Amino acid sequence: MYTPIEWQDEYSVGVKELDDQHKILLDFINTLLKEQVNEYNAAQLSESVSSLIHYAYVHFATEERYLAQTPFPDLKQHILEHVDSIMKTLELSLKVKEGTKNNRLELLEYLKGWYSSHVLGIDRLYIPLLQANGIK
Ligand SMILES: [Fe+2]
Ligand SMILES: [Fe+2]
Repeated sequence: MYTPIEWQDEYSVGVKELDDQHKILLDFINTLLKEQVNEYNAAQLSESVSSLIHYAYVHFATEERYLAQTPFPDLKQHILEHVDSIMKTLELSLKVKEGTKNNRLELLEYLKGWYSSHVLGIDRLYIPLLQANGIK
């Protein structure tokens, strides 16, 4: 079940700072998957989730700062997606603390799915606007 997502050059959004942060987020998620898929370690899970959320805040703030420099029409919606992903990660990680292996797998699947649908999905919608505004 555990297959890490490997960074590909085609995942680039054309801004080095954002690409670097997207790579670091991927490392956090892959590490979490590797640590937790076979053996549950409550202390480690909570530490890894905290690190991931902390870094996600840093990234979201940076990305929103870039987007605010463009006339991105979906900025508000995009910010809401960021908030929602933090809330969902927290909610699922709380369930893991009280739950079963299935809750743990649910969290891991969510994070992997989030990376695919957000970073490799909706984040790509802003690329033309960054380009049109000469932001690199
Ligand atoms: Fe992003
Ligand atoms: Fe985003």
